[in-house]
Amino acid sequence: MISKKFKDMCNTPSVIRALAGYANERGKEIGYENVFDYTLGNPSVPVPEEFNKALRDLTAELPSSALHGYSPNPGNPEVRSIIAESLKRRFGIPYEQKHIFMTSAAASALAHAVRCVTEPGDEVLTFAPFFPEYNPYINQSGAVLKVVPANTEDFQINFEAFEEMMNEKVQAVLINTPNNPSGIAYSSATLKKLADFLYAKQEEYGHEIFLISDEPYREIVFKGADAPYVSTFYDNTISCYSYSKSLSIPGERIGYVAVNPKAKDADMLVPMCVQVSRGIGHNCPSSIIQMATARCVDMTSDLSVYETNMNLLYDEFVKLGFTVVKPGGTFYIFPKALEDDAVAFCEKAKKYDLIFVPSDSFGVPGYFRAAYCIDTEKVKRSLPVLEKFVKEVYGK
Ligand SMILES: Cc1ncc(COP(=O)(O)O)c(C=O)c1O
Repeated sequence: MISKKFKDMCNTPSVIRALAGYANERGKEIGYENVFDYTLGNPSVPVPEEFNKALRDLTAELPSSALHGYSPNPGNPEVRSIIAESLKRRFGIPYEQKHIFMTSAAASALAHAVRCVTEPGDEVLTFAPFFPEYNPYINQSGAVLKVVPANTEDFQINFEAFEEMMNEKVQAVLINTPNNPSGIAYSSATLKKLADFLYAKQEEYGHEIFLISDEPYREIVFKGADAPYVSTFYDNTISCYSYSKSLSIPGERIGYVAVNPKAKDADMLVPMCVQVSRGIGHNCPSSIIQMATARCVDMTSDLSVYETNMNLLYDEFVKLGFTVVKPGGTFYIFPKALEDDAVAFCEKAKKYDLIFVPSDSFGVPGYFRAAYCIDTEKVKRSLPVLEKFVKEVYGK
């Protein structure tokens, strides 16, 4: 008999993927250049040339078994040391090789982290708006994801609601900063308050509460934004990093778990990740991609286009009277829809070939997400269309 759970999940496919599929189909009809596809968070800027060079050099330098063989379960030891050194240099935390576990990007880092710090039935709290894939990432581990309502004022943490939802069953808190979909980075003040609160709750409950920090957008931070490194605030932090967005290599599936050396049982967590891997069939990312990434460890793609696009869209949304919080990073913006029903709003926008994602699956009704990892030229061409849509449909 086939699994009922996974069969049922087929009936609730990702809204984002469904809309991206629609945009593609529409592109076949009218030409993709005429579809303003703001759906997918797929990086639009090329990988740094150094990454391609590293691949070429590695294939020339190393034998086939080193390039294409299995790496040790926690990842290539040299690569882990290079990453630990880089984090230490940049953020002042004394990471060592033993604190780094190589993963197939952030999705896999999160799958490992949550399994290491929860038992089935434990609660994991996250904050709306949140990346909808957290539902399968967390719930399939046996832990239960609960979502703290948003602070729509500025999309920092809603501490009042958080306090209400906190209870002894919570073993982990999952945050994502800079955030998909709001684009907001948690400020130093927010992270300090969060850390103080978690330290107090650990004391009260007599058990650790781990902070799982999902950081695929750590390097995409805009001018003037206060976007500090999470782990410096709270010892029991497990950072989940991905090179998908910073190096524009989402298809290569590479990232890592970095355990704060001061975390409880810090030396156990990477060996435990290895055991998790055995159970979920992960078994280490590609060897050659690990090595190529290590050669570009402090590099990023040219990410400046995202800030250019953000400013164009933000100014336009403000001009047209949208309520919108200015993003501090990522390549997302999250304005309030012009009617309560965000699905209806996005359906109407579709008639103008403006493809936005309604906010319901992000845990906040009445908003929509625009992923602006597209050409600036296309963003510019979309602005008069947006203006026309708002004028014709909402009379603004
Ligand atoms: C917030 C967030 N977390 C995790 C992921 C997973 O990305 P990856 O597994 O490619 O690192 C994404 C992808 O868009 C994301 O936006």
